[in-house]
Amino acid sequence: MQVTKFKFKQHENELGSLVFLESCRDIPFTVKRVYYIYGVGGNLRRGLHAHKTLQQALICIHGSCKVVLDDGTERVEVVLDDPTEGLHVGNYVWREMYDFSPDAVLLVLASEYYEKEDYIHDYDEFIKYIKENS
Ligand code: TYD
Repeated sequence: MQVTKFKFKQHENELGSLVFLESCRDIPFTVKRVYYIYGVGGNLRRGLHAHKTLQQALICIHGSCKVVLDDGTERVEVVLDDPTEGLHVGNYVWREMYDFSPDAVLLVLASEYYEKEDYIHDYDEFIKYIKENS
């Protein structure tokens, strides 16, 4: 499967680093929602779902974590450990986030407002959808 990482512009000088990104320019969707995940214990896994509509960009702005992306035919592991990089996660992609470093902060930019009905929590249901629609 194709894994798309965005590289954001960075302004760096003696005052430190500043990274900026603009909706629809540096990421290919309008950002309607932002949330962040931190304080995840070392052996815990989060995510374990796919979305019907939602697209996301995942940015590990501090520390590191790993992400598995699964499009129903292939599984790819991606390491996020660079605050200038964002990982695009499209709709109908199963994702799992794990191996969070104790200091990890994972920022998520989302294309939609929170909607419970957009989630697919059952992996078999996800695979069934992919098979029926490929
Ligand atoms: P969830 O998406 O299950 O987190 P993860 O996939 O990383 O394990 O979200 C955890 C809880 O937070 C769940 O009860 C729904 C709630 N939530 C919101 O109310 N709004 C949001 O934007 C998000 C992302 C979660």
